Amino acid sequence: MALTLAHLSDVHLGPLPPGAAWENFALKRLVGALNWKLRRHKQHDPVISSALVADIKAAGPDHVAFTGDLMNVSAYAEFPRAARWLQNFGDPAWISYVPGNHDAYVPVPWEYGLAHLAPYMTGDMAAAGSQSSFPYVRLRRNLAIIGLNSGVPQSLRKAGGSLGPKQLEALPGLLNDLKAKGYYRAVMIHHPPLPGLAPPRKALSDAARLRDILASEGAELVLHGHNHRQMLNVLSGRSGNIPVIGVPSTSMNGTGHAEPAAWNLYEISRNQGTWVTEVTIRAWDSISRRLVPKNQFTLPS
Ligand SMILES: [Fe+2]
Ligand SMILES: [Fe+2]
Repeated sequence: MALTLAHLSDVHLGPLPPGAAWENFALKRLVGALNWKLRRHKQHDPVISSALVADIKAAGPDHVAFTGDLMNVSAYAEFPRAARWLQNFGDPAWISYVPGNHDAYVPVPWEYGLAHLAPYMTGDMAAAGSQSSFPYVRLRRNLAIIGLNSGVPQSLRKAGGSLGPKQLEALPGLLNDLKAKGYYRAVMIHHPPLPGLAPPRKALSDAARLRDILASEGAELVLHGHNHRQMLNVLSGRSGNIPVIGVPSTSMNGTGHAEPAAWNLYEISRNQGTWVTEVTIRAWDSISRRLVPKNQFTLPS
């Protein structure tokens, strides 16, 4: 029987909480809040996020991968609200989350910030109550979710990310071990993981190193967000092709040049010793105001 995995990203939950621009003041947060009030709030509609979540729940996938940017400027009040949004969506054992740059917009002490979302980014082997560490691994039947954290506070004009040496050193052994045990390896990261997939100002600083690890050790699927558009790249690995897939924002209404909200459903099965992944894209239709099937295809293996 096929195993099903849903992928969504970049909820950018609004509106901004009162006082978000000024409380626990940081210049980057103030500029980000102004940017939200002038421009971004017109593109991100919480009604669409709710419709998309309802659509995923109706599909009833075995697991959900959420690749970050749940909030906007990492205001202290955004974290508990984001946690409530996730709790309404589903159980932490059913949803795996990795932070985006907007979830680490400025430095925030762990207990006031990402601790609220920890149940959704804790590996199976982590001790209860411990601080989340990355990469985390969650095993669901023959699916292994590997969660990477690229959300690192950036300077004023940057929206990039970075994994750092600790995650990069841990990743090859994990990928190798999970392959030896026969798992389908789905890697989650907020930023596009290969060089050249995002403009330098918004890019993952250690993408070349990550590309080399993926090419060497392999992965059956790499999921990301951040660019707010449909993306499909194929990395040629030592043991086969590695599909690298990005989804649009969960809340985008599709005005201007923006792509409308969408999520992907991956149906994973095994055929004569080979993994087969079927992708269904379900996108927001602004005329009928509901999610509709947009495309369906099989990933190159
Ligand atoms: Fe985003
Ligand atoms: Fe982002």
